[in-house]
Amino acid sequence: MAEIPAIRTEALVKRYGRGGTTALKGLDLAVAAGEVFGFLGPNGAGKSTTIRILLDLIRPTSGTVRVLGVDPRSSADLRAKIGYLAGDFVAAGRQTGRELLTYLGSLRGGVPAQRIDQLAAAWDLDLSKRIGSLSKGNRQKLGVLQAFMHRPPLLILDEPTSGLDPFLQQQFVALVQEAAGEGQTVFMSSHVLSEVQQTCDRVGIIRAGSLVAVEHIDDLRKRALHKIEVHFADDVPALDVAGVSDVVIDGKVLRCKLSGDADALVKALARHHVVDLISEEPELEELFFTYYRGEDA
Ligand SMILES: Nc1ncnc2c1ncn2[C@@H]1O[C@H](COP(=O)(O)OP(=O)(O)O)[C@@H](O)[C@H]1O
Ligand SMILES: [Mg+2]
Repeated sequence: MAEIPAIRTEALVKRYGRGGTTALKGLDLAVAAGEVFGFLGPNGAGKSTTIRILLDLIRPTSGTVRVLGVDPRSSADLRAKIGYLAGDFVAAGRQTGRELLTYLGSLRGGVPAQRIDQLAAAWDLDLSKRIGSLSKGNRQKLGVLQAFMHRPPLLILDEPTSGLDPFLQQQFVALVQEAAGEGQTVFMSSHVLSEVQQTCDRVGIIRAGSLVAVEHIDDLRKRALHKIEVHFADDVPALDVAGVSDVVIDGKVLRCKLSGDADALVKALARHHVVDLISEEPELEELFFTYYRGEDA
């Protein structure tokens, strides 16, 4: 028997109010157990609406939802299996960070104090301070840590790194990779493409309430253009190789873009004296933006 998907929605529709915005227009989404799934899309696409329905914070107009195999509307103990970070995470200001995490941990069956201290140290977060005195970035750290600290089977994160500096984005990537390594499922909305590239197995792209594409990151990476720069000992030779485009020659330096397999290019270059060769990580951004704009990639 196939494993139960961590998340499954079918024909999910959400209309806000009578004659109001239709935020979701028949969303079909399937996230397998154990995968890290990035939910990408421009502002207003319906990401937070979807996530709030998964948590049963709001109810769909129509369609079906299953989270860890059950309907979130009728399962009281589902919430304890989910680590959730809201897009607008807020915590009461008078308690300290340690009080909040310890309290939330006790609601979820107890989290060892050592685990909380380790996470706070890795994230450079002072748990003795009242939450009200923390900066926006430090509050966001608390939000991320409370979602991960009890190692839930499913993490649902709405824009988890918004407001975090680049160092912490790397800490976040490490936390997701650790969770994935332990078989936890991660579903996260984002518009930070770099963290999605580093963490996700698959991405779904939502635009105006519909899923317009679902792709494996590896497939995207193969299709994306690599920027190549080659330095020759002598004048740049003529180059006409399949898959190579945007060739620009500048003295003994050749710049071009390569799609797919590098073999033909490498063999063509090998007939000449190559002093240096630089290949940049493919830029997935351009591919994503074609989806965002509604063109076929
Ligand atoms: N509480 C609400 N009442 C009315 N419209 C809403 C509400 N929340 C969101 N919307 C609208 O639904 C659409 C999707 O919003 P949202 O799910 O927040 O998108 P995202 O998280 O992708 O930015 C937007 O047009 C937004 O204005
Ligand atoms: Mg949102």
